Amino acid sequence: PTANIGVVGLAVMGSNLARNLASREGNTVAVYNRSPGRTRDLVAEHPEAGFVPSESVADFAASLSRPRTAIIMVQAGAATDAVISQLVEAFEPGDIIVDGGNALFTDTIRREADIRPTGIHFVGTGISGGEEGALNGPSIMPGGTAESYETLGPILESIAARAPEDGAPCVTHIGTDGAGHFVKMVHNGIEYADMQLIAEAYDLLRNVGGYTPAQIADIFAEWNTGELESYLIEITAEVLRHVDPVTGAPFVDVVVDQAGQKGTGTWTVQQALALGTPVSGIAEAVFARGVSSHPEQRSAVGATITSRPQPQVVPDTFVEDVRRALYSSKVVAYAQGFDEILAGGREYGWQLDPGAIAKIWRAGCIIRARFLNLIADAYERQPDLVSLLADDFFAKAVAEGSDAWRRVVATAALSGVPAPAFSASLAYYDSLSVDRLPAALIQGQRDFFGAHTYRRVDLPGVFHTEWSGDRSETKVSD
Ligand code: 6PG
Repeated sequence: PTANIGVVGLAVMGSNLARNLASREGNTVAVYNRSPGRTRDLVAEHPEAGFVPSESVADFAASLSRPRTAIIMVQAGAATDAVISQLVEAFEPGDIIVDGGNALFTDTIRREADIRPTGIHFVGTGISGGEEGALNGPSIMPGGTAESYETLGPILESIAARAPEDGAPCVTHIGTDGAGHFVKMVHNGIEYADMQLIAEAYDLLRNVGGYTPAQIADIFAEWNTGELESYLIEITAEVLRHVDPVTGAPFVDVVVDQAGQKGTGTWTVQQALALGTPVSGIAEAVFARGVSSHPEQRSAVGATITSRPQPQVVPDTFVEDVRRALYSSKVVAYAQGFDEILAGGREYGWQLDPGAIAKIWRAGCIIRARFLNLIADAYERQPDLVSLLADDFFAKAVAEGSDAWRRVVATAALSGVPAPAFSASLAYYDSLSVDRLPAALIQGQRDFFGAHTYRRVDLPGVFHTEWSGDRSETKVSD
């Protein structure tokens, strides 16, 4: 055996990760792909990597030193199961199989439980950063046993991105079995929210503010020098500045306005519903992609419209208002995402460290942002923080921007420009901050039609009113 680490699945993500591994001191990388042509191409294109190629799983296993460590980078689902069972056949107790795809975390829990009796470690790991990240340094979210992390940790640390603030590698052992894939799933939910919020900001600047895509590119580039500094804001400026070489029109105007998705955002929302964690901003972001992808409904409803609201006359502060609305809505998206992470930890018995998770998202991943330092600080100040919105720093920042946020949401509504994530985020913030919610009325309705009972503000116990009788109240239990 000559290699200390192997990669199975050599599509773009897999081959970039293999090249990243090979570029680090001390690594020799075994590579295997189901169709051997891909393996041969990769080895021929990158002689500098010194890959050890195999054309069978048995040869691949034989090329790895013990404990064998292999990272699978194939499509989530059936393809992943197929590769895992081949590796389990060829590997021995103590070896480590890592699934680096975007697996559903419950699949990871199942696979880990199935494989554990063989003595082989199964580690589901989130890897974020797209193709570029895989090659130059992703953010890595491994689950699995603490024991497997002893071998795997140093290898992952060698290839992970490094936070600009302190050079710390963007990887940490998240928790056992499916914890890594769970946290990667929520990362993607937050990614959806970040992207949708940015898209709404663009839409308002363009269709209410009257700015051109090139001007909005400049606005985003400017925002990227302040508290919104992040990878997604940075690339948004680039996309908006781009001109279509065929027509000379802004690139954003020649792209069909239907957003695709591969499922991780939907999983985040499904899981949040199951956990009872409201992630309304994230959910609106997922739904907005869904709405965009139903052109038949959009054209049918659009055809019924005879006049649209006039864009509102906007104040001089409009651009700054939108920036503040974006920032506050972004705080909500992270507050909701971290709520879901902590709820998942409680449900599945993982000891999740929100501050450590915020830190490994500071570089390498798609949602990397300066802002994540502040989240890490918030959890450091108060490890049992019940909501990011209750943290002193974020509470103050959001309160200071709340007038602007309201003006933007109101302007969007009056102008007929959809801003579902901005509005849902503001409604969430207001719901958490008003004295009383109309949930009391819902309790009354529930008690009326189904004797579902209610609690009183002034007395202990559980009560029911005889709605169809004399409307007297009875105490049902203590
Ligand atoms: C990442 C990304 C990545 C994801 C894409 C596509 O962290 O590198 O989250 O894992 O596959 O962003 O997601 P959608 O196709 O669902 O937009």
